[in-house]
Amino acid sequence: MIDKIKEIRDEINNVLPGTFQDPEVFRIKYLSRKGKVSLLFDEFKNIPPAEKKEIGKLLNLLKQEANAKYSNLKELLIKTTFSTKENDLFRPSFPVNKGSRHPVSIVRDEIISIFSRIGFTVSEGPEIEDDDHVFTKLNFAPEHPARDMQDTFYIFRISEEESAPEDILLRTHTSSVQVRVMQSQKPPIRTISPGRVFRNEAISARAHCIFHQVEGLYIDKNVSFADLKQTLLYFAVEMFGKDTRIRLRPSYFPFTEPSGEMDVSCLICGGKGCNVCKYTGWLEILGCGIVHPNVLEACKIDSSKFTGFAFGMGIERLAMLKYQINDLRLFFENDVRFLNQFCSSF
Ligand code: DAH
Repeated sequence: MIDKIKEIRDEINNVLPGTFQDPEVFRIKYLSRKGKVSLLFDEFKNIPPAEKKEIGKLLNLLKQEANAKYSNLKELLIKTTFSTKENDLFRPSFPVNKGSRHPVSIVRDEIISIFSRIGFTVSEGPEIEDDDHVFTKLNFAPEHPARDMQDTFYIFRISEEESAPEDILLRTHTSSVQVRVMQSQKPPIRTISPGRVFRNEAISARAHCIFHQVEGLYIDKNVSFADLKQTLLYFAVEMFGKDTRIRLRPSYFPFTEPSGEMDVSCLICGGKGCNVCKYTGWLEILGCGIVHPNVLEACKIDSSKFTGFAFGMGIERLAMLKYQINDLRLFFENDVRFLNQFCSSF
């Protein structure tokens, strides 16, 4: 027995690095249930009691040495496999380069959070839409210039003689989601719809063919322009700070009457006048109005019982103001030097 122990000990001690490239082979050969070391322990049961003490000691020592060898082989394998420059598992885990949210996502989430605090839900609709949801049900006249190929990306258009509503296109605004919500829900409705929109525009620092909007819609009994104004003031103060003032100017949209455009006091100069606000003290941020009765009726909502307000804003525009970004194209280029600057913003 002592000879056998010695023989296996020599064998283990003389294992050369590289002999057992897979430490598991070593473990099976010596340490597994049927391994050489374990079999010696089986034999140990038959040893006369007088020899047990001495042999037991040697056997335990052998087992310790075999275990130590096994650990060494494992470590060696890890080091040789993973410790290359490109793949260093021993590299400390900090500092880790954190990814960053895209500024459009940061601002979108902030808008959602502000409106959800006053009970607005979030609804979404398809980017590939039909004329009916993007224009017709929103009270656009058949000859309205926004339907023109200049502005709208048509996917296919049925011939002029046939009825227009089957035209398939990329939505030019998220107001189309208003229609889908009104068609599928009964008032009261209080929802915002963030999403991507498409317009056939030449790409420049101030215009892009893809951008993002958030649409808002509130329909109930007795909803008035005062409710709209108060909601928008709340939004502006939450978004831009407590000293922010708002101003509403009359405007025109086919789907609202009356319609307005909202300005906020300039975030840079606070209203005194600077080059960002072109020395007016105000920055335009959204369009809004009271939902036109024709729109309610087109969506089967009784306009004698219900009224509502709607608004729509461009997310990139808000992000440009908030972070003082002067070129719209930066949002779509995914240049990490630009994106890295938003690392701490989430
Ligand atoms: N859909 C308009 C646009 O894309 C924005 C807008 C204006 C939405 C007024 C509204 C609204 O809901 O009431 O320019």
